[in-house]
Formats: sequence, C-alpha cells, structure tokens
Amino acid sequence: MSRVPEIDDDRVEAALAAAREARSKAHAPYSCFAVGAAVLDDAGGLYRGCNVESASFGLTLCAERAALAAWVVGRDEGARVELVTIRTGASRPTPPCGACRQWLVELAPDAVVVSESVDGEIARWTARELLPDAFEGPEGGP
Ligand code: THU
Repeated sequence: MSRVPEIDDDRVEAALAAAREARSKAHAPYSCFAVGAAVLDDAGGLYRGCNVESASFGLTLCAERAALAAWVVGRDEGARVELVTIRTGASRPTPPCGACRQWLVELAPDAVVVSESVDGEIARWTARELLPDAFEGPEGGP
C-alpha cells in the first residue's frame, strides 16, 4: 500500500492541466527552465503559479510558492489544500526545492504533491515526507 493518500484521478488530471497551462506563462529568461504549479483545495478552488525570475537571481520566485500565494489570496475561509501539482520540462519529475517545502508544510501540511516530467512521468509525495521535522514556528505552529 502506498504511503501517499489516493486522490481521485479526475482531480489530479485537472490540477496537472492547470500546472501545464501555468508553465506556459513562466518568466524564466535566465535559467530557461519553465515551471508551472497548481493548488487544488477541498472547496474545489484551483490556483495557478509559474516561476518568475529576476535579473537579481536570488529574488526568483518558484512556481509552487506563486501558486500557494495565489491560493492564500483566493481561498474560501477554512479551505485546506489537498493537492499541489508541478510540471517542468525535465525528463524526470522534479521535487520542490527546500524553500517551497517549507511553504508547503506551513500552508498545505496535508497535501499530496504530484510532479510531472515533460514525458508525463509522475512522482508523488506527501508535503510532510518532503520536509521531515520541519520548523513550524518558535512554539511549533501558528
Ligand atoms: N524552480 C521552481 O519554480 N520550482 C522549484 O521547486 C525548483 C526551481 C524554478 C526556479 C528557477 O526559475 C528555475 O526553476 C531554475 O531553478
């Protein structure tokens, strides 16, 4: 039995389609590595994000954090993130970077993260397994 909770195939496909669409909007003139992400919540909300690079490289925003920020502003009160999808142009499904893992644990602690390669290969993790023993604030949470 998989360690990752099952999510309805239709919901995964809808969120992957949103990540693919978001990827087409990526602003990645420096790395040329376009990333799209989507956040699906339990109220049916679907939010998109793409990576946005800066000439001052360290200011780059990843697609996952862009999608989570869009979810924060658009979410219904009390909604919980069920699924975060990622789509890149890499030949293997890429996991989120460390900064995005921190955001995931804080904003989407129960989420399943699904990443899709350019050829449609899929990898799945839970947000918590991506960042075990996460820092969640001085008192352990909000
Ligand atoms: N990137 C993401 O959007 N998400 C990740 O989890 C890893 C990296 C972006 C940042 C940068 O624009 C490009 O990919 C290359 O690192």
